[in-house]
Amino acid sequence: MDKILITGAAGRVGTAVRPFLRERFALRSFDLRPVTDGGPGEEVVVGDLNSARDLAAALEGVDAVLHLACAIGLELSFEESLDASYRATIALLEATRRAGVRRFVYASTHHVFGAHRRDGFDPHALPLAPDAYYGLGKAFGELACSLYAHRFSLQTLVVRIGNADPTVSDDRVLRLWVSARDLAQLFAIGLSHPGIAFEVVYGVSICPSPLFPDPVAERLGYQPLDRAEDHLDPAFLPYDDMPARLGRDYVGGAYATVELPRHLEEDA
Ligand SMILES: NC(=O)c1ccc[n+]([C@@H]2O[C@H](COP(=O)([O-])OP(=O)(O)OC[C@H]3O[C@@H](n4cnc5c(N)ncnc54)[C@H](O)[C@@H]3O)[C@@H](O)[C@H]2O)c1
Repeated sequence: MDKILITGAAGRVGTAVRPFLRERFALRSFDLRPVTDGGPGEEVVVGDLNSARDLAAALEGVDAVLHLACAIGLELSFEESLDASYRATIALLEATRRAGVRRFVYASTHHVFGAHRRDGFDPHALPLAPDAYYGLGKAFGELACSLYAHRFSLQTLVVRIGNADPTVSDDRVLRLWVSARDLAQLFAIGLSHPGIAFEVVYGVSICPSPLFPDPVAERLGYQPLDRAEDHLDPAFLPYDDMPARLGRDYVGGAYATVELPRHLEEDA
């Protein structure tokens, strides 16, 4: 069994996908916070991606890395994202290269496109348009992965995740939702497919009017099993009932309409 280092393993996505990944891989689950639900054969490590010592120990004997850790939040400031999204990603990529590990899966987000309006949206025809500092940090992470893939032959899959909540909250999410089971399938492809040099795919299940149709994931063998329509939240909101502040007109929802925190001091 290949040994996989998972960063951000104690987070929502890590907690949801680890039971599926344990069926195929030996996991080393790494986080600032303790993972309290480790399963059989799973190694749990508390550490900081910004510590060179923690990273070197975490990467020892590893075959591939699944990088989930980051800072998330609607009102996250640029400064708040610096350590977790920028420095930690570069530190991990560099330590991965130095450790001789050849495979990397990066959890990105649809929010790298979030500032686009939903009408006429086509991810294959439009440039990236992050909707807030969280998405900006993820766009940086994608480019950092591209650097290491192209300069150091790190085989890398970038997964732009839709929405991985347990239930579907509204019509926007309905078009980009992903189940933990399907997301784990996509991660497993990135962790083991021999033909990947650098690819970008979308982490979505079977969604009506999908915002992110994905021929690349299909070519790599991704076969989603779960339907977003089967997981509607009891308080599900159709587009017509969504207030404008929830960003119903944008790919990124509320991230695209929230007031962004300032990051420079105003001149007196
Ligand atoms: N949850 C979603 O619906 C969703 C949607 C799109 C993309 N994603 C992506 O999936 C990944 C996981 O998201 P999540 O919802 O589980 O986030 P989360 O905030 O629940 O978990 C992130 C984890 O990263 C850890 N972490 C942060 N900095 C660290 C450091 N320096 N060293 C070690 N661990 C550190 C945190 O302790 C936390 O447990 C993220 O990369 C996110 O961009 C999630």
